[in-house]
Amino acid sequence: MGALCAGCFLSIVKASAPGKIILFGEHAVVYNRPALAVPVNQVQVDVEVLDSDSPGIFIDAPMVDLHGELSTLQPDHPIGSVILKLFQLLDISSPPSAKVNITSTIPVAAGLGSGAAVSVALIRALSAYFNRPMTDEQVNDLVFEIEKLHHGTPSGIDNTVITFNKPVYFVKGQPIETFKTGKPFTIVIGDTGVPAPTKESVGDVRRLWLQDSVTFENIFNEIAQISLIARRSIESGKPELLGELMNQNHELLQQLTVSSPELDNLVETARNAGAHGAKLSGGGRGGNMIALVEKETAEKVANALISAGAKRTIVTEVS
Ligand code: MEV
Repeated sequence: MGALCAGCFLSIVKASAPGKIILFGEHAVVYNRPALAVPVNQVQVDVEVLDSDSPGIFIDAPMVDLHGELSTLQPDHPIGSVILKLFQLLDISSPPSAKVNITSTIPVAAGLGSGAAVSVALIRALSAYFNRPMTDEQVNDLVFEIEKLHHGTPSGIDNTVITFNKPVYFVKGQPIETFKTGKPFTIVIGDTGVPAPTKESVGDVRRLWLQDSVTFENIFNEIAQISLIARRSIESGKPELLGELMNQNHELLQQLTVSSPELDNLVETARNAGAHGAKLSGGGRGGNMIALVEKETAEKVANALISAGAKRTIVTEVS
């Protein structure tokens, strides 16, 4: 849950939201199959809203090179549109002046949910600043609307795991289920550094599915089986089984055409450096891959990924 600063008057309000990774089931989840995702708290978006003497809502978001007043932005600007949608929902027609500072350590367009995290933190901070706090369900619904504006046909998994900041077993349109880990396990995340707009890979998979729905439905069914077995393995304290499941899931993602030479290279490198298994994570074509490792081999795998061209690595424990 994003932290709101305790004891604040309405002159300054802060909120934050984590990144996320998809463990299993990306793409198939768009077609109503289950997927597993977990928050990544080593990276996050922080939003601060302060009183301002200058008229309007001035936004400072250095990670996307944005320094400007809300009314000067295009209506479909990814950050401006979040604020406009929120004002619409809360029926705020003439907001008082405010300064909004957004900082983020989540790499942009890398499959770690940076866009959804900005939306979640921004909505929480602004709604609290205007003294109209929202429930997690309301935040999640609004962020999903925003995701649809920018990503075409998202499943809703990104906004859900980021809003609730919990591991989720997600099936589109069904009530949110979280899952418990019987035994903690360690994941190394490796970033190819290749920007990966999810909208494009999701759109390409849709075109291919329309051309050959039988083949693609079969692949989605196989991925669904993997997600189900993975959930059981995690809950029953046998996370070591996830390695082979990751390898199988990666092969199926290759068949969906969403891998890339850079992702395949990092996946192969992680396996050779001692990971139990590895796969791409998120939309694919670039962005991140993940590898299941023993805690003791995490550093070795992370170093091997950097030597093989990864731009950054994150080691995270799922517990
Ligand atoms: C993106 O993080 C995951 C995808 O399955 C798209 C979605 O679920 O909206 C590729």
